Amino acid sequence: MTNQSTITIRRPDDFHLHLRDGEMLKLVTPDSSRDFARAIIMPNLVPPVTTTAMAEAYKESILSAVPSEHSFQPLMTLYLTEDTDPDDLELGAKSGLISAVKLYPAGATTNSDSGVKTISNVYPVLERMAEIGLPLCVHGEVTTADIDIFDREAVFIETVLDPLRKAVPGLRVVMEHITTKNGVDYVRAHEKDLAATLTTHHLIINRNHILVGGIKPHYYCLPVAKREEHRLALVEAATSGDPRFFLGTDSAPHSTDTKENACGCAGCYTSVNTLSCLAHVFEEQNALDKLELFTSVNGANFYGLPLSDQQVTLTKQNQPASYLNTVGSSEFNVTVFDPGFPLYWHVD
Ligand code: NCD
Ligand code: ZN
Repeated sequence: MTNQSTITIRRPDDFHLHLRDGEMLKLVTPDSSRDFARAIIMPNLVPPVTTTAMAEAYKESILSAVPSEHSFQPLMTLYLTEDTDPDDLELGAKSGLISAVKLYPAGATTNSDSGVKTISNVYPVLERMAEIGLPLCVHGEVTTADIDIFDREAVFIETVLDPLRKAVPGLRVVMEHITTKNGVDYVRAHEKDLAATLTTHHLIINRNHILVGGIKPHYYCLPVAKREEHRLALVEAATSGDPRFFLGTDSAPHSTDTKENACGCAGCYTSVNTLSCLAHVFEEQNALDKLELFTSVNGANFYGLPLSDQQVTLTKQNQPASYLNTVGSSEFNVTVFDPGFPLYWHVD
């Protein structure tokens, strides 16, 4: 462990973020725009963001929720359905509005009912994306009842992702929020057109954290956290500096009452303290020198974006940072991710 006490990095980007809409959008957007330069915005609203016109309107509402003292660029995505119009998508991409398309297998996660049921039905859209170089962000889990929830990602890679990449050569794919060593190994084994995002929480919790000593609804997210050996593989990938791995927080706010519930929603809210958590994780690996690659360089390079020319400084203090447990009001609030250890790194 080093004794470094400050680190200055390019302002980070978040390559997988849920900002929602309405009251939630207003509440959570400043927590991202405070620390991040840009974010890939997930389109799983109700109804989902399926057209360029919808993405344009959504972008406007996000921008109006950004405090005037912050500068933040939302990078918009379209929610892929079996009715997606390749021409609309191409226009959106060429105008610079659409940065990626998101594949949710139907039923995989929050608001994924309109997702794709038969993957071959979207091959024509994927072929167009390969032609124009537009990345596909993939929620990589199979959803059939016969597959154990802890195996969903590994089975998806073998039965859906690998055949899909072979069927549509040249398609640029981001495996979102990978949670397994299988995911890490798959990315490592394929040089071209493939990358993966890693969340903050999957670098910190394994499945015991969710279930041992009482159920912890605020650690429940999808894909669900796996065994410790998988978490260790994710930490190794994140801190390795390998350009194919980068941060996508998957910060996914749900109101506290819908998480602490007999049928609790999936999602961890990490926007508030992600950078403090990551500095801790990277320092433990003696890899603070790789933090900037993970948060601010690798993802921008994969997406073909200029690197941010702004900077943030993190300082390690003697006293733990005091983050609020929740954001919002007593009537409507979101519980902030608790890493389970004190956070000494503060964003200045
Ligand atoms: C996300 C959400 O709530 O929108 N939930 C989650 O557990 N990650 C959806 C998703 O990214 O799977
Ligand atoms: Zn997500």
